[in-house]
Amino acid sequence: MTRKIIMLDTTLRDGEQVPGAKLNVHQKVEFAQQLKRLQVDMIEAGFPASSEGDFLAVQEIARSVGDAVTITALARAVKGDIDAVYNSIKPAQDPFIHIVLGTSDIHVEKKFNRSKDAVLQQGVDAVKYAKTLLPAVQYSTEDASRSEFEYLWKTIEAVVKAGATIINVPDTVGYAVPEEFGELIRKLNDRLKNLNPDVILSVHCHNDLGLATANTLAAIKNGADKVECTINGLGERAGNTSLEEVVMALKVRENYYQSGTNIKTKELLRTSRLLTYLTGLDVQVNKAITGDNAFAHSSGIHQDGLLKDKQVYEIMSPEEVGADSMELILTARSGRHAFKNAVEKMGFDTNDAEEFEELFAKFLTLADAKKEVYDHDVFYLVTNHRTMDT
Ligand code: KIV
Ligand code: ZN
Repeated sequence: MTRKIIMLDTTLRDGEQVPGAKLNVHQKVEFAQQLKRLQVDMIEAGFPASSEGDFLAVQEIARSVGDAVTITALARAVKGDIDAVYNSIKPAQDPFIHIVLGTSDIHVEKKFNRSKDAVLQQGVDAVKYAKTLLPAVQYSTEDASRSEFEYLWKTIEAVVKAGATIINVPDTVGYAVPEEFGELIRKLNDRLKNLNPDVILSVHCHNDLGLATANTLAAIKNGADKVECTINGLGERAGNTSLEEVVMALKVRENYYQSGTNIKTKELLRTSRLLTYLTGLDVQVNKAITGDNAFAHSSGIHQDGLLKDKQVYEIMSPEEVGADSMELILTARSGRHAFKNAVEKMGFDTNDAEEFEELFAKFLTLADAKKEVYDHDVFYLVTNHRTMDT
């Protein structure tokens, strides 16, 4: 039977830490709504203790999509951060608090300058405090892949006994390689299943050596139940694991991984384009799944093979990731009905009659100027209208 992997999107937290990727509250909510259409299981909406703006954005996201998607936000292992997370995510239906604290010697000695026992105790106290607020708590052992194994396990054992319901194992600096990371997850999974089989084992990889997707897949193969990713692989330095790559790898190689996701893959391209549009950060043309050239075949030999049978050079179809549904042409003469259809096809609601008239007026101006209006123009028009910082 195919195992369902829980997909957490952290574009709005780890992705948003990237210079130049700052979004306003409306933009964050719009992006969260697209993540809901994509059917991610969980959204890490921000780091509320970092600023009032971040707090408000997390709160708005919890209000607007927290009925359908599990919401979390990040806290350091201190009371003030945990309170900020709790107060911002509590409008959501089934939220959890995410606590992070380092376990590697480098973090314990250089960053905290404290004893290992003292750091471990801080983590336990933080989990115990978070449990007084919410039943679900995720604990991240920051820099896990460079941590001494027995101390890492001692920490995990202690925080699970204190009530942590998800253990997240981060390769914070993208140092791990797939065989080694897979082995780490296998060992942790074996021990965790003995300790408490209900605890979810999660991974969070960075891409400093270009191995984030490979490490994440190795972790899934070795028992990870949940993975943390971002759209377009956006994130600190070289970025995080790209959600679209993991999802399509599991789909295309389902027999090998015996695992799948709830992701609506036809929304992948649109989600990627929306993020590019909102952040202004382009995707490289040869990026797997969502790059402009991901499905382009230019050599004569390949084109000839494709004409005979697509499977000769295609392991997945562009339609599967939503490339086809971007095509539809409207003109200034198309009328309200066709425009309404196009807006709804993009996944937006048209319930607010006054807003619809404003959108239609903007559409007519655009259609006059551009003559042909494509699906993606409609998508950007609505997004722009709804995310303007007024
Ligand atoms: O990279 C990292 O270690 C993190 C943690 C907060 C999970 O982003
Ligand atoms: Zn990270």
